[in-house]
Amino acid sequence: MKLKQLVSPETLSQIDHWITKYPTTQKQSAVLPVMMLVQDEHHGWLTNELIEAVADYLGMSHIAAYEVVSFYTMFESQPIGKHKISVCTNISCQLNGAEKIVDHLEKRCGTKLGETSADGKFTLREVECMGACIRAPMLEYNKQYYESLTPEKVDELLETMK
Ligand code: FES
Repeated sequence: MKLKQLVSPETLSQIDHWITKYPTTQKQSAVLPVMMLVQDEHHGWLTNELIEAVADYLGMSHIAAYEVVSFYTMFESQPIGKHKISVCTNISCQLNGAEKIVDHLEKRCGTKLGETSADGKFTLREVECMGACIRAPMLEYNKQYYESLTPEKVDELLETMK
């Protein structure tokens, strides 16, 4: 199926907007924002059909599109939970208590890092440095950073997730 048949007119218009930011011969340069828009519209993950439709739309090979999706942790190629929480465990966060945050999240969410809870509510992801080391430890949820985390702050955040 073509991308036009797989996304809403609003999303297609945003995709086309991103494409105009690059030379017409370099449409594939827009692959990251385009994949993100498509993923956002499809419950936070990308099927093979979607990945290939994006590749076709941008004039790039399917394998190159699969490489992008498998390389970046922000993309998912399997169904995920309702709430995806990405926790940084890189050096600054680790030195400032990321392990405690991960333990707390795993207990509260009922799942392990890299997995989805049995009730489908939470997916926990481990990510590399997200450039917020100055306020480590941190996590990303719903495209927002939550920094200088403590178990109490994690609890407050989880309370907002219905
Ligand atoms: S090490 Fe965690 S944000 Fe940089």
